Amino acid sequence: MKVIVTGATGFVGSSLLHDCISNDEITQVYALTRKHIPREFTKNPKVTVITHDDFLDYPPELLEQLSGAEACLWYV
Ligand SMILES: NC(=O)c1ccc[n+]([C@@H]2O[C@H](COP(=O)([O-])OP(=O)(O)OC[C@H]3O[C@@H](n4cnc5c(N)ncnc54)[C@H](OP(=O)(O)O)[C@@H]3O)[C@@H](O)[C@H]2O)c1
Repeated sequence: MKVIVTGATGFVGSSLLHDCISNDEITQVYALTRKHIPREFTKNPKVTVITHDDFLDYPPELLEQLSGAEACLWYV
């Protein structure tokens, strides 16, 4: 299962990212973020970091990259 996580630099989102990484049912996590996230996440092969500034705008290329995700954990 592929999931999207927002707010990964924050209190809740970073904890969720840990949970997603340790959950065997989750195969891929897209961390949608405005800023850099800690290396402990970026070096994990399950995590794809997507830097994106405007969370009100989703260009087609970004939507294509996120296609296949079955859940979005939104903690902004
Ligand atoms: N903390 C709790 O106990 C708790 C409990 C229940 C619900 N919540 C809810 O969960 C959400 C996150 O809470 P938190 O405590 O984790 O907050 P936090 O530590 O301040 O983190 C906020 C996160 O949201 C991102 N963010 C803020 N404004 C954004 C914007 N305009 N566009 C994109 N990203 C944005 C921040 O990214 P940047 O680093 O890029 O700024 C950061 O990753 C909030 O909606 C809060 O109401 C929190």
